[in-house]
Amino acid sequence: MAQIRAIRAAQPGNLMARYFDEDYFNSLDEPKRGRLLEIIRSGLENPDSQMGAYAHNDSDYEDFAPLLEPMIREYHNIPREQEIEQKHDWSLTASRCNLEDIDPGLNGVSMRVRVGRNLAALPLPAAMTKAQRLEFEALMIEAFMTLQDDPQFGGQYFSLTPGSSHAIDDAAYQRRVQAHQMFKDMRGDPYITAAGIAADWPFGRGMYVSNSEDFLIWVGEEDHLRIMAMREGGDLAALLARLHDGLEQLKGLIPAFAHSRRYGNITSCPTNLGTAMRASLHLSLPRLTEGGKDLGPARKTASGFGLSVRGAGGEHSDAGHGGLVDISPRARLGKTETAIIQRLYEGTAALWSLENAG
Ligand code: ARG
Repeated sequence: MAQIRAIRAAQPGNLMARYFDEDYFNSLDEPKRGRLLEIIRSGLENPDSQMGAYAHNDSDYEDFAPLLEPMIREYHNIPREQEIEQKHDWSLTASRCNLEDIDPGLNGVSMRVRVGRNLAALPLPAAMTKAQRLEFEALMIEAFMTLQDDPQFGGQYFSLTPGSSHAIDDAAYQRRVQAHQMFKDMRGDPYITAAGIAADWPFGRGMYVSNSEDFLIWVGEEDHLRIMAMREGGDLAALLARLHDGLEQLKGLIPAFAHSRRYGNITSCPTNLGTAMRASLHLSLPRLTEGGKDLGPARKTASGFGLSVRGAGGEHSDAGHGGLVDISPRARLGKTETAIIQRLYEGTAALWSLENAG
């Protein structure tokens, strides 16, 4: 417990350490204490965590609500007097959300939207056995054998599982990583490694990609599934529609996802609950990042618009050439899918006008 107090003092951003309550912990029985320590292991071993916890089972969010709920409220900006509730809405028919309306120059932006999903019938990735990871991949391959013939979402599955009949070699894997289609070796991420999510790498991991290469499904990363649409352009509504159509198609082929009325889609990381949606785009902000040298000012400005800023190379990366950054709405819980896209659109408009002011 002294360790948590030390983290709280040194790293005020670590929400696990901030909200950890010793009296609550001591009130739990032995098995529950053990479970809770596993959930917060990542935040203990990585004091610089922003969240500092990963669920192992979908019931964890209810079972350990006295700790997790305040962390979730803080991250997703839901005040205590407001009920946590997730509603879904994917229709963007009323608004255009085309970046070209902000600036015709924004018609070739790299846009991406992903959702995390987990099957209700299996433990979350942090708690899966190797056998379960393989069983899950096999179930997905079954579904992909149907999806691959779909006129809109037809494609191919590539497995990282050694000896799989769908396996790709290392060079082909690296090319997919370079193309920003495939996830990196998870053991390089200390947060998910500490949580046990990278265990048994690369067994049960892989990716489905549509022939058009604008619809992808990651298997066995931080969540059982990460389903995404990506394209260059400015039409955020079309991007969202592409993801939604693909998701509906996939849902018909596999067992039910873990979902709750309060927390929406259940994800490993509390930052992703609700819609489990991260909608992002790459924007060049040389002024707000001092030529790409410092993400700080852009982060500060963007947070006022409810946006997070990452380097263009993904989570924990620095700004790319010329101040290229990745921006996305921070909250995923308590907002609809539509509202997230609208936030991205409006936040981009605000940032863009500040970048180009004067
Ligand atoms: N566990 C890390 C932290 O608490 C990452 C949180 C968000 N990122 C993620 N990939 N879930 O800072």
